[in-house]
Amino acid sequence: MRILAIETSCDETAVSVIETSGDWNTPGFSFSILGNTLYSQVATHAPYGGVFPALAKREHALNIVPLLTSALKEVPTTHNPVHSIDLTSLFTHEQDAVAMFQNFFATQPRPAIDAVVVTHGPGLEPALWVGINAARALSESWGIPLLGVNHMEGHIAIAPVNPGEPLTVTPISFPSLALLISGGHTEIVSIATWGSYEVIGSTRDDAIGEAFDKVARLIGLPYPGGPAISRLAAQARASGRKNTIVFPRPMRDSGDLDFSFSGLKTAVRRHTETFTLPLTDEQKEDISWAFEDAAIDVIVHKMKLALSRDQYHDVLVGGGVAANTYLTQSLLSMISKQFPETKVHIPHISHATDNALMITLAAVHHLEKKESSDPSTLRAQGNLSLSQR
Ligand code: KG4
Ligand code: ZN
Repeated sequence: MRILAIETSCDETAVSVIETSGDWNTPGFSFSILGNTLYSQVATHAPYGGVFPALAKREHALNIVPLLTSALKEVPTTHNPVHSIDLTSLFTHEQDAVAMFQNFFATQPRPAIDAVVVTHGPGLEPALWVGINAARALSESWGIPLLGVNHMEGHIAIAPVNPGEPLTVTPISFPSLALLISGGHTEIVSIATWGSYEVIGSTRDDAIGEAFDKVARLIGLPYPGGPAISRLAAQARASGRKNTIVFPRPMRDSGDLDFSFSGLKTAVRRHTETFTLPLTDEQKEDISWAFEDAAIDVIVHKMKLALSRDQYHDVLVGGGVAANTYLTQSLLSMISKQFPETKVHIPHISHATDNALMITLAAVHHLEKKESSDPSTLRAQGNLSLSQR
């Protein structure tokens, strides 16, 4: 099965095409990447210290067609017909996108694709709509099924991918548990089987990635803050000095699986206010170190609690913060000591942050069950939950 996916939920515009072989979640399943393109808008949003939705939408609309064209370069073509559709009604305020799609359909040979899938939530609605309308244009022109995919299911589905050519995916046994840690989410999810999820813990305020980004801003580090903070924290740990700062661990011992990170951010702000600005490099390192220790301690502790409540066979970790090796090492170490029977799947660092490959993979089991979305009713759902069926 050849699947094309579009991802535009936040500040990355991405297109991926894969060819699968075998059945999802069986040892025989493998896939090859025929095309995989991504344009990051990080530099555009950096001056705002976060993602600016109207700007994200505009950037997605300008970049989607060039990314599609490049992702399709190596995809085999077919003589099947291309239907003409009304692009102006799909891209009402984006004349540039209309012109680019007109040119795309006029010049691009028709690729041999079986389904077009697209992130329809959660995320920034203006941004999600660009991807949805682009996917509609492709599915209607090529006369192939369209499917809306949950972005968070993408972060789960890419965790068990193994390197190699073709790539393979380790089959998962159920029930299993997912830890989703990104700029918008901090969730512990119980998985009964692929497609059947229950969010059993989530943040009451800031997401973990958001806390990294806000703390980075407080201490004068660039956006996105996660990579910068983890680099400074690693330098501090390697320095051999002792860290005298200890930040609070909000809700660590609350007895439930929920999180709260806004108090931790406030504690960092209060602490920085005791210094004369600008902070020295050593002060920035020590704050990053203490913040990371506190945030990771809470996450590892909550995962320990969740794992002690049921017999989970596999743990799947996903989201941009899964690129944090100190976090993944701490989690692996706790699980190997306390739950040695449990297998842990950590995505390759290049697959942890947003991409379209994860959306192709999340779609596989749905497409095998012949699920599809009605193009006229598929909507952007900013708060789409994994618990929704
Ligand atoms: O999943 P993602 O790419 O986008 C969302 O769906 O939110 O996650 C982005 C988040 C940002 O908050 C970024 O600071 C964080 O992932 N991040 C990290 C690291 N790399 C990215 N956080 C901690 N340590 C990292 N190494
Ligand atoms: Zn994400």
